[in-house]
Amino acid sequence: MNVLLVGNGAREHVIAEALARSRPTPNIFAWMKKTRNPGIAALVDRITVSNNYNPLGILDFAKKSSVNLAIIGPEEPLFHGVADAMEDAGIRTVGPRQKPAQLETSKSFTRELMKKYHIPGSPKFKIFKTMNGLEKYLNENMPVVLKPDGLTGGKGVMVQGEHFDTIAEALKICREILKEHRAVVVEKKLLGEEFSLQCFVSGMDVKTMPPVQDHKRRFMYDQGPNTGGMGSYSCANHLLPFLTPNGLAQATEIMRLTVKALTLETGQRYKGVIYGNFMVTADGIKLIEFNARFADPEAMNVLPIMETDFLTVCQAIVDDQLDQLDVKFKSLATVVKYVVPVNYGLPEDQHHAVKSDIIRIDDIGQAKLYYAGVYSDKTGLHLTSSRALAVLGVSPDLYEAEIIADRAADNITGAVDYRTDIGKIAALMEKIEKQCGDIWKN
Ligand code: AMP
Ligand code: GLY
Repeated sequence: MNVLLVGNGAREHVIAEALARSRPTPNIFAWMKKTRNPGIAALVDRITVSNNYNPLGILDFAKKSSVNLAIIGPEEPLFHGVADAMEDAGIRTVGPRQKPAQLETSKSFTRELMKKYHIPGSPKFKIFKTMNGLEKYLNENMPVVLKPDGLTGGKGVMVQGEHFDTIAEALKICREILKEHRAVVVEKKLLGEEFSLQCFVSGMDVKTMPPVQDHKRRFMYDQGPNTGGMGSYSCANHLLPFLTPNGLAQATEIMRLTVKALTLETGQRYKGVIYGNFMVTADGIKLIEFNARFADPEAMNVLPIMETDFLTVCQAIVDDQLDQLDVKFKSLATVVKYVVPVNYGLPEDQHHAVKSDIIRIDDIGQAKLYYAGVYSDKTGLHLTSSRALAVLGVSPDLYEAEIIADRAADNITGAVDYRTDIGKIAALMEKIEKQCGDIWKN
């Protein structure tokens, strides 16, 4: 079996590790954009480092490597139609075609789909293609969240009370969004605790993975700007401290209904992974957004504790056999902490540049290490401007898993930083009480 893996982050590193653990072990070919990930490089047979995710270039590499299965990690190649190019050439692909990938690439598509098929979980929303009627709608629906319709690398969402306060400011933001995007989605601002639910999907079949909580804010106790994610945890009972079995069932049902609607609407089978970003609110489970891929860092919480063979799951996805597979995960808790450049997520003028600085990995104990935005040369391991390394602690106990991850992160030195609070039970309880206290009281 020859497998192509597209992408070069820690998410793709953990996917490569899961493939390398599969039996029989496949030959792995990797397509990376810009940076050669040293962790993936150690696990694969051949690598192309390109400056793009051009479908034709990737297809050519796949054909030359006699690839029979492709796995697409990030959203960007999905947006460019890499899955379509592969499938049209007869290479079966884990990752949706462009049309069903709209679930991630167009926020207006997803909200309209949920509305049309009466799927619960959307906040009140309206889509605006021009400024007409916006001021009146804002006046009547504050507080709101403003979302550009299109891929923004996770940085486009503007939340009232955080990124702006007044209607005048909201209108200015909408005007800017409409210059670059076909629409702006205005949503009612929800309050509650967020979680990620990742699922393997094949047509209308959905197999869920354990729920995970990501921490997007740059600083301790969820302060500072949003980032790609500073770390995440999952619990041994496959729930979260604020998520009941009923809440998880509601989120799973929203996923199932959406996948069914997506198949009916696009006429195409979704083959790949969907990750739903949900929120537990006083009003039940709400859907913040869907993504057409594994989440990062959350992929590192689930794949290392998966009992079922990963390649077998991938084959079931492309062969339309997922309903016949029991996808199992070990009852273990996990904590992931990202080690990032000290200036990560901050305006460039707030810190001296540390790009290219050397970092050192000392004793990481029992933790697992995943490489993200770093490169290595003869002089050592170097930072880029993205998240550098992720460490994972796994244990039957969340308390132990956090200690394992924290010790490892502390032993990675250089111009780096990480959040010591992620996965710590006391910090978690405080956060949940703050966000959900009123929900429990009601
Ligand atoms: P997204 O890029 O859609 O994941 O949004 C980034 C972040 O914005 C989410 O993780 C939420 O914290 C926040 N967000 C998005 N939509 C809403 C909403 N309707 N209410 C409150 N917060 C939201
Ligand atoms: N954990 C956030 C993301 O993968 O988009």
